[in-house]
Amino acid sequence: MSKNILILPGDGIGQEIVAEAVKVLDCLQKDFGLKVELEEALVGGTAYDDSGSPLPESTLKLAKQADSLLLGAVGGYKWESLDIAVRPEKGLLGLRAGLELFANLRPAILYPQLAEASTLKPEVVSGLNIMIVRELTGGIYFGQPRGVRTLDNGEKEGYNTLVYRESEIERIAKVAFDIAGKRDSRVCSVDKANVLECTELWRDVVNRVGEAHKEIELSHMYVDNAAMQLVRAPKQFDVMVTTNMFGDILSDCAAMLTGSIGMLPSASLDAKSKGMYEPIHGSAPDIAGQDVANPLATILSVAMMLRYSLDEAALAERIEQAVNSVLDQGLRTQDIFSEGMKKVGTADMGDAVVAAMRQQ
Ligand code: IPM
Ligand code: MG
Repeated sequence: MSKNILILPGDGIGQEIVAEAVKVLDCLQKDFGLKVELEEALVGGTAYDDSGSPLPESTLKLAKQADSLLLGAVGGYKWESLDIAVRPEKGLLGLRAGLELFANLRPAILYPQLAEASTLKPEVVSGLNIMIVRELTGGIYFGQPRGVRTLDNGEKEGYNTLVYRESEIERIAKVAFDIAGKRDSRVCSVDKANVLECTELWRDVVNRVGEAHKEIELSHMYVDNAAMQLVRAPKQFDVMVTTNMFGDILSDCAAMLTGSIGMLPSASLDAKSKGMYEPIHGSAPDIAGQDVANPLATILSVAMMLRYSLDEAALAERIEQAVNSVLDQGLRTQDIFSEGMKKVGTADMGDAVVAAMRQQ
């Protein structure tokens, strides 16, 4: 039966990079028997410009009906001064919450061809393969109460709430243990249990889940140390599981170890493996519309979609091998360019991946 994919290009470079990922999907449909139907909708700043909402009802409805979603990126200077309730980012957060996509998988893999592109020494990062499992629908991003209030003395005070229920911690921990079982069987849970009660509970619950997964080696690390260890000796990690905000920060940090944030895909899954797939980078308004953005993270997000939601692992591998092949050919967008390589634009990179898929 044909699966329904909702395409959400979003803002900035989202438009260009998603167009390349759609070329990949088209190729899989035409040449490799993938049965999917694509539909497109607005989200983020472009949706706000169109209807006054970063997540129009119509988009949320289509998102709920879809089997899978492919998102580009949201946000841009243009919308930065809007009220926080209608900023593009709210569109993304609304999709995550509305679809209950609580498990965010952010792999940080170093392609050997790009070892030079990392700002860290090759021996520190070569062979790097970390999976960050970030809780995505709870924590301080969604906790109530929140806001800015005026105190009796007229001073303003901003406040947000870090809150996790046991069930929320338990389900994300289970995801991390399951994934670790398919990898190197190690989970490092990241918290700030020395200061925050909420993450003290996080640690207790992760330990409890760990009891049922004796085959997995469980460790705990405070987030400040984890940030340091990620840049000091990142290969010590296999799976890291953490809260929404810590995961946001650590995943950018891990991404940079791989040379470019332009290479990394992500999956956001619900309890039934319905997913939204997106590059982990943002909308990069400074380079939007110039045909210089790297489409590989979005293309690799399609591979994750095939693997985690559409049960098409062989096609996922075909994409991943094609990406390897274009890197072997020396093709580089500007973010991963180094001396002696061939600089290509967004569209040429997408075309090269499609050609490499056909050549396998
Ligand atoms: C991410 C982004 C988002 C987040 C923003 C755009 C709301 O940084 O997906 O990591 O903070 O989750
Ligand atoms: Mg982020």
